[in-house]
Amino acid sequence: MLIAGNWKMYKGPAETREFCALLRARLDGFEGADVIVCPPFVSLHDALGILAVTEIGVFAQNSHWAKEGPYTGEVSPRMLKEMGVGGTVVAHSERRQLFGESDESAALRIEGSLDAGLHVIACVGETQGEREAGETEMVIRRQVEAIKTVVENDNLERLAIAYEPVWAIGTGHTATPDQAEQAHELIKRLLDVPVLYGGSVKPENAAELLSQPNVDGALVGGASLEVESFAAICEASVRS
Ligand code: PGA
Repeated sequence: MLIAGNWKMYKGPAETREFCALLRARLDGFEGADVIVCPPFVSLHDALGILAVTEIGVFAQNSHWAKEGPYTGEVSPRMLKEMGVGGTVVAHSERRQLFGESDESAALRIEGSLDAGLHVIACVGETQGEREAGETEMVIRRQVEAIKTVVENDNLERLAIAYEPVWAIGTGHTATPDQAEQAHELIKRLLDVPVLYGGSVKPENAAELLSQPNVDGALVGGASLEVESFAAICEASVRS
Protein backbone atom coordinates (compact mmCIF):
# COMPACT_ATOMS: atom_id res chain seq x y z
CA MET A 1 0.00 0.00 0.00
CA LEU A 2 1.32 3.42 -0.99
CA ILE A 3 -0.16 6.74 0.17
CA ALA A 4 1.23 9.82 -1.59
CA GLY A 5 0.31 13.42 -0.78
CA ASN A 6 0.31 15.73 -3.81
CA TRP A 7 0.60 19.22 -2.35
CA LYS A 8 0.24 20.98 -5.71
CA MET A 9 1.22 24.67 -5.45
CA TYR A 10 0.83 24.84 -1.68
CA LYS A 11 3.40 25.16 1.12
CA GLY A 12 6.61 27.12 0.74
CA PRO A 13 9.74 26.15 2.69
CA ALA A 14 8.62 27.50 6.09
CA GLU A 15 5.22 25.79 6.00
CA THR A 16 6.87 22.65 4.71
CA ARG A 17 9.25 22.50 7.68
CA GLU A 18 6.36 22.94 10.08
CA PHE A 19 4.19 20.33 8.34
CA CYS A 20 6.96 17.74 8.02
CA ALA A 21 7.98 18.06 11.67
CA LEU A 22 4.37 17.48 12.73
CA LEU A 23 3.90 14.60 10.28
CA ARG A 24 7.12 12.98 11.46
CA ALA A 25 5.88 13.06 15.04
CA ARG A 26 2.33 12.00 14.11
CA LEU A 27 3.44 8.97 12.07
CA ASP A 28 6.24 7.95 14.42
CA GLY A 29 6.23 4.15 14.54
CA PHE A 30 3.59 3.90 11.78
CA GLU A 31 3.91 0.76 9.68
CA GLY A 32 1.88 -0.95 7.03
CA ALA A 33 1.95 1.54 4.16
CA ASP A 34 4.63 3.48 2.33
CA VAL A 35 4.06 7.20 2.79
CA ILE A 36 5.26 9.90 0.40
CA VAL A 37 4.88 13.68 0.27
CA CYS A 38 5.23 15.67 -2.96
CA PRO A 39 6.01 19.33 -2.15
CA PRO A 40 6.66 22.06 -4.73
CA PHE A 41 10.25 22.16 -6.07
CA VAL A 42 11.32 25.02 -3.78
CA SER A 43 10.26 23.08 -0.68
CA LEU A 44 11.87 19.73 -1.52
CA HIS A 45 15.10 20.56 0.29
CA ASP A 46 13.33 21.38 3.54
CA ALA A 47 11.11 18.31 3.35
CA LEU A 48 14.13 16.09 2.73
CA GLY A 49 16.01 17.62 5.67
CA ILE A 50 13.25 16.90 8.15
CA LEU A 51 12.09 13.54 6.81
CA ALA A 52 15.54 12.06 6.14
CA VAL A 53 15.53 10.15 9.42
CA THR A 54 12.09 8.65 8.69
CA GLU A 55 10.63 6.16 6.23
CA ILE A 56 8.51 8.92 4.66
CA GLY A 57 9.58 9.51 1.05
CA VAL A 58 9.84 12.81 -0.79
CA PHE A 59 8.84 13.06 -4.47
CA ALA A 60 8.66 16.00 -6.87
CA GLN A 61 5.46 16.87 -8.77
CA ASN A 62 7.04 16.98 -12.23
CA SER A 63 10.35 16.54 -13.99
CA HIS A 64 11.83 17.33 -17.38
CA TRP A 65 13.16 14.44 -19.51
CA ALA A 66 16.63 15.73 -20.38
CA LYS A 67 19.66 15.47 -18.11
CA GLU A 68 20.31 19.19 -18.64
CA GLY A 69 19.87 21.73 -21.42
CA PRO A 70 18.41 25.04 -22.56
CA TYR A 71 14.97 24.54 -20.99
CA THR A 72 14.23 27.71 -19.02
CA GLY A 73 12.08 27.06 -16.00
CA GLU A 74 12.47 23.28 -16.02
CA VAL A 75 14.12 20.89 -13.54
CA SER A 76 15.88 17.72 -14.67
CA PRO A 77 15.48 14.27 -13.15
CA ARG A 78 19.22 14.11 -12.58
CA MET A 79 19.03 17.27 -10.44
CA LEU A 80 16.21 15.79 -8.41
CA LYS A 81 18.16 12.59 -7.91
CA GLU A 82 21.24 14.54 -6.85
CA MET A 83 19.34 16.34 -4.10
CA GLY A 84 18.01 13.06 -2.71
CA VAL A 85 14.46 13.14 -4.07
CA GLY A 86 13.10 9.60 -4.41
CA GLY A 87 10.82 10.05 -7.38
CA THR A 88 8.37 12.24 -9.20
CA VAL A 89 4.73 12.49 -10.20
CA VAL A 90 4.35 12.78 -14.00
CA ALA A 91 1.43 13.84 -16.20
CA HIS A 92 -0.95 14.90 -13.47
CA SER A 93 -4.23 15.95 -15.11
CA GLU A 94 -3.54 19.57 -14.16
CA ARG A 95 -0.34 19.33 -16.25
CA ARG A 96 -2.30 17.71 -19.08
CA GLN A 97 -5.15 20.23 -18.98
CA LEU A 98 -3.42 23.49 -18.06
CA PHE A 99 0.16 23.11 -19.29
CA GLY A 100 -0.09 21.20 -22.54
CA GLU A 101 1.19 17.84 -21.31
CA SER A 102 0.51 15.20 -23.97
CA ASP A 103 0.81 11.41 -23.94
CA GLU A 104 4.09 11.85 -25.85
CA SER A 105 5.67 14.40 -23.50
CA ALA A 106 4.47 12.38 -20.52
CA ALA A 107 6.22 9.31 -21.92
CA LEU A 108 9.45 11.29 -22.36
CA ARG A 109 9.31 12.54 -18.77
CA ILE A 110 8.66 9.04 -17.45
CA GLU A 111 11.55 7.64 -19.47
CA GLY A 112 13.95 10.41 -18.35
CA SER A 113 12.98 9.99 -14.71
CA LEU A 114 13.27 6.22 -14.71
CA ASP A 115 16.63 6.46 -16.51
CA ALA A 116 17.87 8.83 -13.80
CA GLY A 117 16.98 6.23 -11.17
CA LEU A 118 13.87 7.96 -9.83
CA HIS A 119 10.57 6.31 -9.00
CA VAL A 120 7.59 7.57 -11.01
CA ILE A 121 3.89 7.95 -10.28
CA ALA A 122 2.36 8.39 -13.74
CA CYS A 123 -1.19 9.79 -13.81
CA VAL A 124 -4.00 8.74 -16.12
CA GLY A 125 -7.74 9.34 -16.11
CA GLU A 126 -10.71 10.45 -18.15
CA THR A 127 -12.57 13.77 -18.06
CA GLN A 128 -16.27 14.08 -17.27
CA GLY A 129 -17.05 14.53 -20.96
CA GLU A 130 -15.08 11.44 -21.92
CA ARG A 131 -16.87 9.36 -19.26
CA GLU A 132 -20.27 10.61 -20.44
CA ALA A 133 -19.35 9.81 -24.04
CA GLY A 134 -18.49 6.24 -23.04
CA GLU A 135 -14.80 6.78 -23.78
CA THR A 136 -13.35 5.97 -20.37
CA GLU A 137 -11.79 2.68 -21.41
CA MET A 138 -10.44 4.09 -24.66
CA VAL A 139 -8.80 7.05 -22.92
CA ILE A 140 -7.23 4.90 -20.23
CA ARG A 141 -5.95 2.44 -22.82
CA ARG A 142 -4.41 5.24 -24.88
CA GLN A 143 -2.72 6.84 -21.87
CA VAL A 144 -1.38 3.56 -20.50
CA GLU A 145 -0.17 2.38 -23.93
CA ALA A 146 1.87 5.60 -24.21
CA ILE A 147 3.46 4.88 -20.83
CA LYS A 148 4.20 1.30 -21.88
CA THR A 149 6.34 2.44 -24.79
CA VAL A 150 9.07 3.67 -22.43
CA VAL A 151 8.92 1.10 -19.66
CA GLU A 152 11.40 -1.75 -19.57
CA ASN A 153 11.69 -4.81 -17.39
CA ASP A 154 14.55 -3.39 -15.39
CA ASN A 155 12.76 -0.17 -14.44
CA LEU A 156 9.20 -1.47 -14.10
CA GLU A 157 9.58 -1.89 -10.36
CA ARG A 158 10.05 1.88 -9.97
CA LEU A 159 6.78 2.74 -11.72
CA ALA A 160 3.30 3.16 -10.27
CA ILE A 161 0.24 4.49 -12.07
CA ALA A 162 -2.33 6.78 -10.47
CA TYR A 163 -5.86 6.50 -11.81
CA GLU A 164 -7.32 9.96 -11.29
CA PRO A 165 -10.65 10.57 -13.01
CA VAL A 166 -10.45 14.28 -13.79
CA TRP A 167 -14.05 14.85 -12.69
CA ALA A 168 -13.16 13.61 -9.20
CA ILE A 169 -10.14 15.85 -8.61
CA GLY A 170 -10.76 18.59 -6.09
CA THR A 171 -14.51 18.34 -6.68
CA GLY A 172 -15.63 16.24 -3.73
CA HIS A 173 -17.08 13.73 -6.25
CA THR A 174 -15.19 10.51 -5.61
CA ALA A 175 -15.38 7.61 -8.02
CA THR A 176 -17.41 4.84 -6.46
CA PRO A 177 -15.34 1.89 -5.25
CA ASP A 178 -16.76 -0.07 -8.23
CA GLN A 179 -15.78 2.59 -10.77
CA ALA A 180 -12.28 2.74 -9.31
CA GLU A 181 -11.95 -1.03 -9.21
CA GLN A 182 -13.02 -1.39 -12.86
CA ALA A 183 -10.51 1.18 -14.06
CA HIS A 184 -7.72 -0.27 -11.92
CA GLU A 185 -8.41 -3.76 -13.17
CA LEU A 186 -8.15 -2.51 -16.77
CA ILE A 187 -4.91 -0.65 -16.08
CA LYS A 188 -3.32 -3.67 -14.41
CA ARG A 189 -4.28 -5.86 -17.37
CA LEU A 190 -2.43 -3.41 -19.63
CA LEU A 191 0.58 -2.89 -17.36
CA ASP A 192 1.17 -4.87 -14.19
CA VAL A 193 2.30 -2.18 -11.75
CA PRO A 194 0.79 -0.81 -8.51
CA VAL A 195 -2.20 1.43 -9.25
CA LEU A 196 -3.14 4.25 -6.87
CA TYR A 197 -6.55 5.92 -6.84
CA GLY A 198 -6.74 9.72 -6.76
CA GLY A 199 -9.67 12.14 -6.72
CA SER A 200 -11.23 13.51 -3.53
CA VAL A 201 -9.78 10.83 -1.26
CA LYS A 202 -10.61 11.71 2.34
CA PRO A 203 -10.37 9.99 5.73
CA GLU A 204 -14.09 9.13 5.42
CA ASN A 205 -13.89 7.33 2.06
CA ALA A 206 -10.31 6.03 2.08
CA ALA A 207 -10.91 2.66 3.73
CA GLU A 208 -13.63 1.61 1.28
CA LEU A 209 -11.70 2.70 -1.81
CA LEU A 210 -8.48 1.13 -0.59
CA SER A 211 -10.18 -2.18 0.22
CA GLN A 212 -10.85 -2.84 -3.49
CA PRO A 213 -8.67 -5.71 -4.71
CA ASN A 214 -6.89 -3.73 -7.43
CA VAL A 215 -6.47 -0.47 -5.52
CA ASP A 216 -2.90 -0.40 -4.24
CA GLY A 217 -2.86 3.02 -2.63
CA ALA A 218 -3.94 6.62 -3.02
CA LEU A 219 -2.69 9.88 -4.47
CA VAL A 220 -4.22 12.48 -2.19
CA GLY A 221 -4.49 16.18 -3.02
CA GLY A 222 -6.54 18.46 -0.76
CA ALA A 223 -6.68 16.08 2.20
CA SER A 224 -2.88 15.75 2.22
CA LEU A 225 -2.44 19.41 3.18
CA GLU A 226 -3.46 18.87 6.82
CA VAL A 227 -1.36 16.54 8.96
CA GLU A 228 -4.37 15.01 10.69
CA SER A 229 -6.39 14.13 7.57
CA PHE A 230 -3.32 12.83 5.73
CA ALA A 231 -2.29 10.69 8.72
CA ALA A 232 -5.85 9.38 9.04
CA ILE A 233 -5.81 8.25 5.40
CA CYS A 234 -2.46 6.51 5.98
CA GLU A 235 -3.98 4.71 8.97
CA ALA A 236 -7.15 3.79 7.05
CA SER A 237 -4.97 2.11 4.42
CA VAL A 238 -3.72 -0.37 6.99
CA ARG A 239 -7.19 -1.36 8.13
CA SER A 240 -8.45 -1.95 4.58
P1 PGA B 1 -7.83 15.84 -4.64
O1 PGA B 1 -6.60 15.83 -5.68
O2 PGA B 1 -7.53 14.75 -3.61
O3 PGA B 1 -7.80 17.21 -4.03
O4 PGA B 1 -9.06 15.56 -5.41
C1 PGA B 1 -6.01 14.64 -6.10
C2 PGA B 1 -4.90 14.94 -7.06
O5 PGA B 1 -5.05 15.91 -7.83
O6 PGA B 1 -3.88 14.25 -7.09
